[in-house]
Amino acid sequence: MLLTRQRRRAVIAGAVTLATAALGIGLSTQFAGAQATTLRAAADAIGKDIGVAVDYNKLQSNTQYRETIAREFNSLTAENAMKWDATEPSDGNYTFGQADAIVDFAEDNGQSVHGHTFVWHAQTPTWVQNLNATAMRAAMVDHINTVANRYEGRVDSWDVVNEVVSDNNGAMRDSFWLRTMGEGYITTAFQTARAADPNADLYINDYSIDGINPKSDTVYRIAQGLKSQNVLDGVGFQAHLILGQVPSTMEANLQRFVDLGLKVRITELDIRLTTPADANELQQQANDYRRVTEICAELADCSGITVWGLRDNDSWVPGTFPGTGAALLFFEDYSKKPAYNAVLNALGGGTSNPTTTPATSDPATTTSPPPGSGCTATLSVSSPWNTGATYSATVKANQNLSGWKVTWTWPGSERISNAWSVTGTLTGATVNGANASYNGTLASGQSTTFGFNITKADGSTASVPAVTCTPA
Ligand code: XIL
Repeated sequence: MLLTRQRRRAVIAGAVTLATAALGIGLSTQFAGAQATTLRAAADAIGKDIGVAVDYNKLQSNTQYRETIAREFNSLTAENAMKWDATEPSDGNYTFGQADAIVDFAEDNGQSVHGHTFVWHAQTPTWVQNLNATAMRAAMVDHINTVANRYEGRVDSWDVVNEVVSDNNGAMRDSFWLRTMGEGYITTAFQTARAADPNADLYINDYSIDGINPKSDTVYRIAQGLKSQNVLDGVGFQAHLILGQVPSTMEANLQRFVDLGLKVRITELDIRLTTPADANELQQQANDYRRVTEICAELADCSGITVWGLRDNDSWVPGTFPGTGAALLFFEDYSKKPAYNAVLNALGGGTSNPTTTPATSDPATTTSPPPGSGCTATLSVSSPWNTGATYSATVKANQNLSGWKVTWTWPGSERISNAWSVTGTLTGATVNGANASYNGTLASGQSTTFGFNITKADGSTASVPAVTCTPA
């Protein structure tokens, strides 16, 4: 069975408009995006991806790393595991163990996957680099077909080509791809990827194209050409930024690509500074992260933001730009940096957003909780298909809670097949759920979300039963 992108991750379609969510006003109490307490819940409420680049080894070995990634992010990218050197180290010898583990993790946790990357000048084995034009083309086609087909329906979008433009005044990058195959290698890659997985969104991805400059001008021209052939869906802006240097033209730049009919995505966000960081720098960094997040939140065609690693010590930055670092959203001990709260607020979540109007002040959308009920929970179908559906659930605290329980009974054939951000006895006709370790503590008025997939009789309607929520 093919899964399409909407099925894998709960998106509360139309629950709030992007503009109001970004400003943190006018949200319905039902979804309460203004008070989401995780990045994931806040991003879900406005229909955006909040992604993270993940390391296979840490995902295997580190429980807190895993739990934080499951709790905070609704999208994953393999930091290295889907690159050519990892997936086809020698000709025709495909090794998918690490990539499979990451895709499995995403599926278990209701997360989408942004794939990275098919065609790049780096982390590509020498056996590829040494081929002649005919053989290199064949190797590219085989590689894209094999990888895209393997993850068809499980990887939602791909960086088809990565970093094909140079830093020299917008010239094409002088890579072995260009030297051997000529500029047509880019079109070949996109046409192959389109045919291999027609439902995946295809991106061109690059760095230092975040603002308007000669390099992003070149990407713009390439994007125009690929779009006119209907083989391009989006542009990825890596956004490996330097403290205090969010380009002033970033919003206008993303907008011009949107105006071509393309999606945009912040694909590898980090904001580095000279280490060690002091409090002022961490605040400046928070402001920078807030700005980038606002730009994406306010653009309906910005599919989301991926940060390039979880904690500062997980980042590639110190190894690549010596003397700099502290570039991400979490400290080494998993505590949240000021930048985390800035991103949370800019996604419409958090409790300290000064622009938030309490949802209860909006008479049009206020619903009073039933008397005596410590929490209310609602289900909604994010994405149905013939034999299943993805649901999103919201739990709202009407008093301070240290845990919650939810229960409902399916009226028909619906049964949960996998769930995220909820624990308990979930797979029967009667569902008895409880909070996960990280989303049970809610102040009065706060909300959290969980989600799940169901299977159901072919063609039947996915029902929306009433949920009983009780404090635990
Ligand atoms: C980096 C990874 O983070 C490192 O672990 C690896 O050693 C090198 O690659 N642009 C990209 C990413 O498109 O794939 C790079 O990731 C960072 C720059």
